Amino acid sequence: MTTVLALETSCDESAAAIVSGRRVLAGVVASQVEEHARWGGVVPEIASRRHVEALPALIGRVLEQSGLAMADLDAIAATVAPGLAGALLVGSVTGRTLARLHGKPFLGVHHLEGHLCSVHLGEPLPEGPYLVLLVSGGHTELIRVDAPGRYARLGRSRDDAAGECFDKVARLLGLGYPGGPAIEAAAAGGDSGRFRFPKGRVSLPQGGFHPYDFSFSGLKTAVLRQVQALGGQGSPLPVSDLAASFEQVVAEVLVERSCRCAVEAGLATVVLVGGVAANRRLRRLMEQEAGARGLLWRVAPLAYCTDNAAMVGLAAVERFEAGGCSGIGLGVAARLSLERAAELYAPQPPF
Ligand code: KG4
Ligand code: ZN
Repeated sequence: MTTVLALETSCDESAAAIVSGRRVLAGVVASQVEEHARWGGVVPEIASRRHVEALPALIGRVLEQSGLAMADLDAIAATVAPGLAGALLVGSVTGRTLARLHGKPFLGVHHLEGHLCSVHLGEPLPEGPYLVLLVSGGHTELIRVDAPGRYARLGRSRDDAAGECFDKVARLLGLGYPGGPAIEAAAAGGDSGRFRFPKGRVSLPQGGFHPYDFSFSGLKTAVLRQVQALGGQGSPLPVSDLAASFEQVVAEVLVERSCRCAVEAGLATVVLVGGVAANRRLRRLMEQEAGARGLLWRVAPLAYCTDNAAMVGLAAVERFEAGGCSGIGLGVAARLSLERAAELYAPQPPF
């Protein structure tokens, strides 16, 4: 059984975990959201500094919780792409230094491959290919997974990611950061049918619309216009109804396009991962729609939807068991498509 220490520092959560096979022996996440909330979003420089401060204690805690010593580990892993370059560097340098010091192999992990693996920390999936709806603060993608490491992207957002849209709309409604949980709380008890917001379709050059791509920037503008129109009337903003109507349309569009994509691609299972997968309205709608279309659906356990190191550890275990190992000189990249994840283990690294 492969046992790895994994580090995650791609954005505003510092995290460490020890994973053995498919079991999480220990996992801790130190969130920086309160600090970034003052600025209404992630400040990259602050994120890097906080990772530097947090990581040593987090590593100490997972070793203590698991009862393991460095000598018991088979490899060390860290997220190296995509994400904030400075933040990624902290995890990468820490991981590579530990690997060098203790004579262990190092694995650089693709953050999205980590999110894809998060579903394996829950109920087992049936055999065969499946469709993943990956919805986070930085990405909205429909990915066909044929086997570990074998992916094809079937749809994506052409502008803002779904989580980013939650964050921006929360800000214009005067709610907190991160926006997803704030909107979800404000939407409870709101009338989701009061406002009709657009579903953001992507036009094709030959006419018609792209069946599986998303666009969220127009939705954000539509909410802004509605807020301005209501503000002009002088009465208090119906924040709860606005939040519920917004949340409803995002959930509908994600569920409709992913279920249609699964059916048309001949895939029997739809999987939800990423921070937005924590949203209860989205889960509820997915359950209804998947049921109506005869699809099976799975979602990552709640604790592993938002960024964490356990999912990174699992991705590293899979790569390591398939013979993967990264060079100790591997750098980091703010951008790298998921299809290129295998290059992190190639003799000629991509960066
Ligand atoms: O996966 P994640 O932790 O980080 C990225 O890789 O981006 O996702 C963070 C995103 C944020 O935009 C946050 O607002 C959103 O996930 N999010 C939610 C919920 N919890 C987090 N969106 C909707 N509903 C939630 N309950
Ligand atoms: Zn993430």
